[in-house]
This record gives sequence, structure tokens and C-alpha cells, in this order.
Amino acid sequence: MGEIGIAIRTEGLTKVYRIGIRGTHVGIGDLTVEVPEGEIYGLVGPNGAGKTTTLKLLLGLLFPTSGSGEVLGLPLGSPDYKARIGYVPDGPYFYDHLNAPELLRFYGALFGLTGKVLEQRIAELLELVGMADRAHFRVHEYSKGMRQRVAVAQALLNDPDLIFLDEPTAGLDPMGAIQMRNIVLDLRQRGKTVFLCSHLLKDMEPMCDRVAIVSRGALKLTGPIDEVLQAGAGYRVRATGVSPETRRKIEAVVTGIVEPDADGVAVLKAADQKRALEVANTAAGDGAQVLEVGPDRRTLEEVFIDVVEGQAGD
Ligand SMILES: Nc1ncnc2c1ncn2[C@@H]1O[C@H](COP(=O)(O)OP(=O)(O)OP(=O)(O)O)[C@@H](O)[C@H]1O
Ligand SMILES: [Mg+2]
Repeated sequence: MGEIGIAIRTEGLTKVYRIGIRGTHVGIGDLTVEVPEGEIYGLVGPNGAGKTTTLKLLLGLLFPTSGSGEVLGLPLGSPDYKARIGYVPDGPYFYDHLNAPELLRFYGALFGLTGKVLEQRIAELLELVGMADRAHFRVHEYSKGMRQRVAVAQALLNDPDLIFLDEPTAGLDPMGAIQMRNIVLDLRQRGKTVFLCSHLLKDMEPMCDRVAIVSRGALKLTGPIDEVLQAGAGYRVRATGVSPETRRKIEAVVTGIVEPDADGVAVLKAADQKRALEVANTAAGDGAQVLEVGPDRRTLEEVFIDVVEGQAGD
């Protein structure tokens, strides 16, 4: 077994759009990232951050203004990697009068697939995306979630090693988003590398192994999801029965208190383990029941707000 490779690498990747006669706008600037093979990688950020621009640069649909990159070991835009990738665009468009198998037959033919091999492949893919029982519906009768799933099936026709999905859960209801997550996790299970772009942080958090947070064309933070959520989060003590007296005593030690939830569990936050233990001891000494002392974890949304703070409102 060789060591884990890098599926995508960019170095100072930059796309500056021309606007009007003299105007310019940085779509994405100086992006340097590495996407390990076999991982689910999420490029996350608000509307206009440069996610789709980055995706199009990686797909070779746009030329960079400066910087460089490699996809599957080949230079950006090289035709040699295009047969090995799949792409689900933001808001996929299909010929409305076809049903799913007809549609997949059409795209399969573009990849040179025919006959039994193609039919077998279509059946497998419709099963994978949970559309086998609704294959006879025509595209114009599809819900958004069904369209999205057929788009995934379409992107997998050539059995790609690397799949790009732009806003895979946008417009889906909670169940649809969970199904999409399961499809993506299943792809990783099959050894694929998945590159996602999304502004939906809640959807991305449970499915990404690694994230890059971008905002206004700039990379703000990148790393394994666990490290990103852990960074700067400190420690927490979960306890019930925290008295006002305890609160007064720990006031100077805690960095914050989350008021008791429906089960009466309060969360006392501290900067480090030592302070967390001090808080736990004080609370326990006053008769509170300490349920847990451990590292805190923030949500991707909280980290995101921290990282892009100071940019809001302008
Ligand atoms: N063809 C274009 N010409 C000029 N500016 C563009 C063009 N395409 C995108 N932009 C600008 O570049 C910036 C990044 O756009 P991009 O579509 O990459 O953002 P995004 O992160 O995908 O946003 P969204 O979440 O809305 O999909 C935006 O400010 C956008 O207005
Ligand atoms: Mg976009």
C-alpha cells in the first residue's frame, strides 16, 4: 500500500473577473489548499465567497488569472483528468421530458457506454441514489431532491475517482439533506474523493472530514473538521443543580455559562482543563452533580462567525 495521495492541490490560485471596461473583482484570491484522496472536503463560505469560482477553476471551466493547481496529479485544465471526475452543478438542468433511465442513457452514451454495461450501470446508480422505484417519473415531475439525486447518478456514470458537488443540499428538506449526506458518505466508503461547496454549514458539519472556510475570495481557515471545531473552544463542565452560590464562586474562572436546558443541565465553560477541573470541584463541593468534564466543541457556524467577524455589515 502506498501512502495516501493528494487528489487536489492548489498554489496561490487566483481568479480575477473583469467587470465593465476597467473594473475587476476577485472571485477567489491566493487559494492554497490540499485535498487528500479518499476524504470528503468541504469548501464553505457565504454567498459570493468564491466557492463556485474555485470549483470551475478545478474543473478546468475557468482559467486562473494566476497561481496553479493539480487535480489527480495533472495540471489544472488538463483533459486527462476530466474522464476521471464527476460534477454535480448548483441547480442542475436536465431535458424535462425524459425519465431518469432515458436521461442516464443519454449521458452514458456521451461517455461511450452502451448496451448491457450501460443498463447495468444505470440500474446500480438509480439504486445508489434511492431512485430505483421512481425511475419511470419524468424529470418535470421530479421534486428538487429527486433532481439532485439524478444529478448525482449522472455524475457517477463514468465511475469517477473524484466527485465535485456544488451546493448538494441547497433547496432540500431535512430528510432530503440527510439522504444526500448518506450518498456522499457512501461514496467515501467506496474509496472516492468528494469535494463539496456549500454555504449550508449545518449540512456540511456532519459530513466533511476537512473544511476550508472562504469569505470574499479569501481563505480564512482550513483543517480537519475536528481540529477546526476544537480550536480555541477550551473546556466545558456539564452539570445539574448548579446553585447561585456556586455561580458567584466560579464567576471569575469561567469564560461563559450556558443556562440549564430542559433536563436542567448547565454548561460551564473554561479556558483550559485546569480551570475546568476547578469549576467542577467547586460545583461538586456545593452539591451539584457533575456529568462531564471535557474539551468543548463549537459548531461550524460558531467557528465561521468567529473567523469572518469584523466583515459583517459592509
Ligand atoms: N462571471 C462573473 N463575472 C464577474 N463576477 C463574477 C462572475 N462569477 C462570479 N463573480 C463574482 O465572484 C464572486 C464569487 O462568486 P462565486 O459564484 O464563486 O461565489 P459562491 O461562493 O459560489 O457563492 P454562492 O454561495 O452564491 O453560490 C462573487 O462576488 C460574484 O459576484
Ligand atoms: Mg456558488
